[in-house]
Amino acid sequence: MLNKIDHLGIAVKSLDDAVAFYEKALGLTCQAVEEVESQKVRTAFFHVGDTHIELLEPTSEESPIAKFLAKNGEGIHHVAYQTDDIQGQLNQARDSGCKLINEEPVSGAGGKKVAFLHPKSTHGVLTEFCSPEG
Ligand code: CO
Repeated sequence: MLNKIDHLGIAVKSLDDAVAFYEKALGLTCQAVEEVESQKVRTAFFHVGDTHIELLEPTSEESPIAKFLAKNGEGIHHVAYQTDDIQGQLNQARDSGCKLINEEPVSGAGGKKVAFLHPKSTHGVLTEFCSPEG
């Protein structure tokens, strides 16, 4: 079962510039900045009520975020749903014909387990499943 939208991932060219916008223009407080080696990104997290905003800046030209920015420019990159059963959700999606990016959960920001569905089979929205915090 999907519990809630855990976060929206937003691709940005400069994490520093974007963090300044979210703090100054929107009044949010950056909770954590973390580099995720496996995804070649630097991330910044903001709490917004019960959900989060995740800013993503590429750390390499090979980063999926660098490719996204080259193709689409800055903007919403993915929607992440929180679930207690990532593998079960992956199996359900695969069994219904959905193409998976991750066949099983991998480590993401904040020590959470994450897995992605391919946007070609999700009506254009890169879809993430993630475990609850802690
Ligand atoms: Co995410």
